Amino acid sequence: MSISVIILAAGFGTRMKSAKPKVLHEICFKPMIYYAIKEAKQISNDISVVLYHEADMVKNVINKYFDDIKFIIQDVKNFPGTGGALRGVSFQNEKVLILNADMPLVTFESLKLLCLKQNAIAVFKTKNPFGYGRVLIEDKKVKSIVEEKDANEKIKKINIVNAGIYIFDKSFLQSFIPKITNENSQKEYYLTDLVKLATNHDVKMQFCKFSEHECYGVNSKLHLSIAEQKMQKRINEAHMINGVIIRLPKTVLIDPEVSFIDECEVESGVIIKGKTTIKKSHIKANSIIEESIISNSDIGPLARIRPNSDISNTHIGNFVEIKKSTLRGVKAGHLSYLGDSFIDEGTNVGCGSITCNYDGVKKHLTKIGKNVFIGSDTQLVAPVNIENNVIIAAGTTVTKDVKEGELVISRVKQTQISGFYDKHFKAKD
Ligand code: UD1
Ligand code: MG
Repeated sequence: MSISVIILAAGFGTRMKSAKPKVLHEICFKPMIYYAIKEAKQISNDISVVLYHEADMVKNVINKYFDDIKFIIQDVKNFPGTGGALRGVSFQNEKVLILNADMPLVTFESLKLLCLKQNAIAVFKTKNPFGYGRVLIEDKKVKSIVEEKDANEKIKKINIVNAGIYIFDKSFLQSFIPKITNENSQKEYYLTDLVKLATNHDVKMQFCKFSEHECYGVNSKLHLSIAEQKMQKRINEAHMINGVIIRLPKTVLIDPEVSFIDECEVESGVIIKGKTTIKKSHIKANSIIEESIISNSDIGPLARIRPNSDISNTHIGNFVEIKKSTLRGVKAGHLSYLGDSFIDEGTNVGCGSITCNYDGVKKHLTKIGKNVFIGSDTQLVAPVNIENNVIIAAGTTVTKDVKEGELVISRVKQTQISGFYDKHFKAKD
């Protein structure tokens, strides 16, 4: 049966104590809401996100990653709360899956199981139920959900809690959403009151048990950090199972969009962001790679590969920064900045060499051919083109194009004055 998905993301996220909307806070370099949408996409193509607080900002971020999401603006002034978020929403399909946007760890596999039921809520058992709605179950049916702020001491002890994920029939929602009231301590319209309404009208409300680690709800910056550690573990373990060696995985942070091909090794302290592909390569300790392609290469330790770099058959050593560059079969062993450049095979970049790619207004290209020997401390002032088989002497500032086979050298001639040392220091005595 086809399903509509509604993701609730209109809340103020007050407990985050942040100017940034809660659902945009990042977990492994992706906004929290990215994960709920990504999993929901595997269930349905009809996904709506309910927004209010900083709606345009949230919308723009979501549109960066997904292209067919619908947006609904909640009437928060008149109908605050998760129940208010559903007011006036029309549902396209017969079944509606509702998700809180602040639970990034939920998986498609679990959602699929919930969707097999008719009217049901996802619950989980926890040693620390604080903050979650407590779920009262009788005769295998859910009777009601009591929010933390409305719970008495006895109810607070219940350790079965509401995950914030629900599947409902469209007809059930159409009948009961208008009946939700705001008679509670927060004067909000609680989505969870749908359960009480179901009980009062003899509608069977089922439940589906989820695992606790999938249902972690993020309400504060402490929760954010815990959720990120859980996501990091999940991502890294999946890569290790697929054959990637990861040294001290708790220190390695990998974006969910990263992919590895063939056997790769990632050492401790590495960060890999954005759409990056790493093939048959070794990323050494404390390196950072962003939105790039690395193939058959070794990077680091302590190297930084910035977006739009394409590096193959190359050795990059420590303190080397690469930006928007293509390197094919290059050696850049130490302390270099190579930006907006194309460098061909067999070329050796000496220590301390840099591309001067920015003239204060525009960025310019540096093109370096095959088998070029770039001496240490070379400055390549772009735009500049170095042909194949060139030697650039150490300390040279290259400002003009260099032809095949040439030596290029620009240095102040060395001067030596004998006896100068003694003269200089004795004069000071
Ligand atoms: C909610 C549940 C609680 C459950 C917990 C699971 C309610 C009343 N309570 O509590 O039973 O155990 O999630 O994590 O639903 N939102 C809106 N509009 C609003 C308010 C919130 O869209 O007016 C969105 C938020 O952006 C958020 C989600 O709904 O993504 C949940 O809101 P939040 O305030 O975090 O609810 P909890 O207190 O965590
Ligand atoms: Mg929450």
